[in-house]
Amino acid sequence: AVVEHTFNVGNLSISQLCQPERIITAVNGQLPGPTIVATEGDTVVVHMINDSPYNMTIHWHGIFQRGTPWADGPAMVTQCPVRPGGNYTYRFNVTGQEGTLWWHAHVSFHRATVYGALIIRPRGGAAAYPFPKPDAEEVVVLGEWWNADVNRLHEDAKETGQPSPHANAYTINGKPGDFYNCSDANQTHKFELKQNTTYMLRIINAALNTPLFFKVANHSFTVVAADACYTKPYNTDVVVTSPGQTVDVLLPKLPEHKDTATAYQFLSNLTALVPNKVPLAVDTHMFVTVSMGTTVCGPEQTRCMPNNGTIFASSMNNASFVLPKTTSMLEAQYSNNATGVYTSDFPDTPPVVFDYTSNDSNTAELQLTTKSTKVKTLQYNTTVQMVLQNTRLVSKESHPMHLHGFNFFVLAQGFGNYNETTDPAKFNLVDPQERNTVAVPTGGWAVIRFVADNPGMWFMHCHFDSHLDFGLGMMFEVLPAEGTSLPAPPPDLPQC
Ligand code: C2O
Repeated sequence: AVVEHTFNVGNLSISQLCQPERIITAVNGQLPGPTIVATEGDTVVVHMINDSPYNMTIHWHGIFQRGTPWADGPAMVTQCPVRPGGNYTYRFNVTGQEGTLWWHAHVSFHRATVYGALIIRPRGGAAAYPFPKPDAEEVVVLGEWWNADVNRLHEDAKETGQPSPHANAYTINGKPGDFYNCSDANQTHKFELKQNTTYMLRIINAALNTPLFFKVANHSFTVVAADACYTKPYNTDVVVTSPGQTVDVLLPKLPEHKDTATAYQFLSNLTALVPNKVPLAVDTHMFVTVSMGTTVCGPEQTRCMPNNGTIFASSMNNASFVLPKTTSMLEAQYSNNATGVYTSDFPDTPPVVFDYTSNDSNTAELQLTTKSTKVKTLQYNTTVQMVLQNTRLVSKESHPMHLHGFNFFVLAQGFGNYNETTDPAKFNLVDPQERNTVAVPTGGWAVIRFVADNPGMWFMHCHFDSHLDFGLGMMFEVLPAEGTSLPAPPPDLPQC
């Protein structure tokens, strides 16, 4: 079947936390935007009409976009943004995946208010779930709310090179809830649940910059899926999500099951429901550091006073990613003309080997990076293994690394420096969790593996919006199979 929506992106006047009414950008006047519900195998068609005063794109987070790379959505990667007054139709299939995903704006800071759920049901309906059929389902979208205009915050961040301030509130389905001063019943999302009923909660972390823990007082959960992949049932009383991740849980009645789950335990204990076909031979080995760092102020930083003329600049293997300005990277790949758009020299290893997780690795030459637009080119159907090594340069944070266009297997995670002699013994090659976003632990590492069988230009980046802005990303250019070419761009593809 075809699931068709019209997304009018425009102004919504809203007042929360006792602030005066103000205008935000939202889809169809709703916060969060509309939930898309499709069945596995359907075609989703979304006509996006941009009635907002800003450049806009929408990304379908976790959708593979096989054969439809032009519908992925990140601005300047797979399309130029849709200008105010313009429109673009996103058309893609939801084949071979089911569960909870979501959609969000992928330009500037707009995903703060332009986001919503995307649910793919199994063909057989709820009876086809590989777990006891829940009596009912609810969507729980976790987000962040700023009292200030988010566009202003983004402009400020660009001009000063400093991170944006923390959100004024965390939200559930767009509402701050009554823990906050000035928040009332109207600003609290209410779920009306019946006693002795099992609910499936589809939890989405749509926050910009914060990993979130989710609990329900006096209840426990059974995790059944993460990032739209079924997991072995896992009992916990806390759900851990990083921005970009989704977790489906069953919320059973008492008794509660007390679990001392830490984020690490939660994330490393999940396994796939059934054994996965993990490719055993690796064609491309990559060892990639994910770091915070600094660079010299550029022309954009008109207010670059602090830090002696330097600004934050995150990097992967010391390359700080910057989007091209003139055309999208996918168009450049399609027309075989990367000159001036990107270079194919993203390094497979860091330029310097150092003690990534020791506290004294905070040396100037290692944290100083330069901005560039580098891609890693992959031959069609090759298997890539990536060790993501977190570093302690500048700040210690766990980074939720998201890959567009694919799911990957999370083979292992650990603390300290990855050891290539001993750590491979810890790989789960049988039933590793399959995800589109992995939290690389603070002072630790994660190893992922995927098969590059989806030609196109695919972003890999930290799903903290501010880190992405600082350049914590890189790009995979996947070449088409020998003798074939990329699909032609749709006629309504926006031009820059
Ligand atoms: Cu959910 Cu590139 O993002």
